[in-house]
Amino acid sequence: MQSKIIVAIDGHSSCGKSTMAKWLAHQVGYIYVDTGAMYRTITLYALRSGFITSAGIDTEGLKASLGNIKVSFRLDPDTHLPLACLNNEVVESEIRGMEVSDNVSPIAALPFVREVMTAQQQQMGREKGIVMDGRDIGTAVFPDAELKIFVTASAEVRARRRYDELIGKGETGINLADIERNVVERDYIDSHREVNPLRQAPDALVLDNSHMTKDEQNRWLLSQFETCVAAHQQ
Ligand code: DC
Repeated sequence: MQSKIIVAIDGHSSCGKSTMAKWLAHQVGYIYVDTGAMYRTITLYALRSGFITSAGIDTEGLKASLGNIKVSFRLDPDTHLPLACLNNEVVESEIRGMEVSDNVSPIAALPFVREVMTAQQQQMGREKGIVMDGRDIGTAVFPDAELKIFVTASAEVRARRRYDELIGKGETGINLADIERNVVERDYIDSHREVNPLRQAPDALVLDNSHMTKDEQNRWLLSQFETCVAAHQQ
């Protein structure tokens, strides 16, 4: 039997990491984990509980409540794609809205949040056969992952993709300039936080998909996967 590997896909926000990770997992029969969704779900909890206000984040309140937050995934019976759940409530569409997007980076920068999330992610990948996307998967969660991909694209292209996605979901009152500001701001916070910042692992393969079609990208990804699996067969 083919031995299973861990595929770590990191990179900037809105550059299509989740779409490619999901596609690859489906193609090769691996489990897919969107770690951004986990940080988004914690952020939703913090917003709902009043731990995020215009005055800032009540970190002590959030820290004391961590034990009450269960982040999990449930498979959509129709699409078979994972849906993020907060204490067993499906919150997949709520966590993709602007309110969560605007607040997630500072929450993801909190060391106690990262510690709990990283431990859960390592547990999910203990049997390998997993494609996980995020910011620190190849550097902190699975530094020994067999295949590491670092994805990027220009801020302009990424903002346009996020805008089209939100419009496609029927969101109103959004504008492209706000989205681009959010994309750039999140990159900054994600790359400059103290704990496990976004950075490219030295052994990651870089993919700039600014000018690639989804098909070209998928072909590239599958060929990297096949090469890597072949190299790891005893
Ligand atoms: O991929 P995304 O846009 O859904 O991620 C949401 C936020 O969570 C983003 O600001 C970066 C952060 N994140 C992180 O810090 N570490 C991860 N492994 C995944 C996401």
